[in-house]
Amino acid sequence: MKKRENFGSKIGTILVAAGSAVGLGNIWRFPIETGQNGGAAYIFIYILCIIFLGYPVMMSEFIIGRHAHASTSTAFQKLSPGTQWKWVGRLGVLTGFVILGYYSVVSGWTLEYIYLTISNQFADKHTADFAPMFNDLVSNPWLSVMWTFVAFAITYYIIVRGVTGGIEKFSKILMPVLFLLITLLVVLTTNLPNADKGVDFLLNPDFSKINGKVVLSALGQAFYSLSLGMGALITYASYFNSTSRLRKTAINVCIIDTLVALMAGFIIFPAMFSIGHVLSPDEIGPSLIFITLPDVFKQSFSAVPILGYIFSLFFYILLFIAALTSMISLHEVATAYCVDERHIDRKKAALYVTLSCAILGALSALSFGPLKDFTIFGRTFFDLFDFTASNIFLPLGGLLTTIYVGWFINQNVLHDQVRGIDRSKQMSVKIIRFLIRYFAPIAIIGIFLYQFGII
Ligand code: TRP
Repeated sequence: MKKRENFGSKIGTILVAAGSAVGLGNIWRFPIETGQNGGAAYIFIYILCIIFLGYPVMMSEFIIGRHAHASTSTAFQKLSPGTQWKWVGRLGVLTGFVILGYYSVVSGWTLEYIYLTISNQFADKHTADFAPMFNDLVSNPWLSVMWTFVAFAITYYIIVRGVTGGIEKFSKILMPVLFLLITLLVVLTTNLPNADKGVDFLLNPDFSKINGKVVLSALGQAFYSLSLGMGALITYASYFNSTSRLRKTAINVCIIDTLVALMAGFIIFPAMFSIGHVLSPDEIGPSLIFITLPDVFKQSFSAVPILGYIFSLFFYILLFIAALTSMISLHEVATAYCVDERHIDRKKAALYVTLSCAILGALSALSFGPLKDFTIFGRTFFDLFDFTASNIFLPLGGLLTTIYVGWFINQNVLHDQVRGIDRSKQMSVKIIRFLIRYFAPIAIIGIFLYQFGII
């Protein structure tokens, strides 16, 4: 048998997993959730969610992947042969496929906005022009499908180069660029006039806004933001080598992901406050990123337009890098499944995944134009993919994964994997095991019920 490829370095391991976690969710959801739900009070709750839910679930995925040395569905088969657990893995493969189907469309839009910025097309626009400009893009079938395909082509280019020569190598270049860009942007916005009001808004804790709903939505956000629940991290952990420390890696990924989300808040709010823009509740997701922000950035730097130009360019490149490294991880789940379980050659597997998923991408892209009125259960393709994957499949996958690791896996495996080669303290193993067995499943059931409006 061919030896399984491994990530070559500790830093590479962390950057690859962080690349999966840091994505659009950090930039277009977290800051606004924070702004609307009590600022620092929300941040405090969110960090608790990361520690008590995100971290143990991430450890569960790492334990399965590294112990089995196989991507998600095959890992379940190796660890529990002859059982139905493999279906948890297969559900994950399907989930990744569906998420990639709509995520690629948004990645495509960020490419279009990089292009619009470079060709200086925001220069003569006024506030009222930004919404029609975005609507023109998304409703134009050729343009949006083309950019979706470009995003896929770039992902394919990296995936086909393999685990070390593709995924690890590019993450080691892209993630530092992302950190550099986001730091630069934070420095620029926090120096704008009135920026301190934006910082205050974000950091001023308002605990009166915290209720059960806010806690559950923070739990859901932590879960999505860390890429949990679909075996993405099982797949990546199957490439960890036996000396990499799971707990250290997980802690680093949680910290990086949270920092990037916070920094996105320090970009968005100071810029908004500097021009006195008042946030409306519907400015979340695409409309925030593609309609509000280009205008806000333009106005904030109106005194020095060249700064506005650079700022906007860096911002959309940052978004694209965040989206791209997440696309790579989504793509790898399906690719590794084809390689490990279907024994397809990696190059072919990558091509099949790209081509078949690009069809979902095209359907999602067209659901803002020609397929706008084509709905299933009242949702367009884009919304349907987003809803089923994020609200049903991810929590379901996460719930089953924690139940598996907490109750069904050989508990010596859990012990050995958590303790690692440096034989960490028994106490921390006990705490992690408790969180995986009891806290995580209950919290995920809570997220579920909340998302369906039951509680
Ligand atoms: N974490 C990504 C973000 O914040 C989104 C995501 C969810 C994801 N599940 C994933 C990315 C699985 C890669 C793999 O945008």
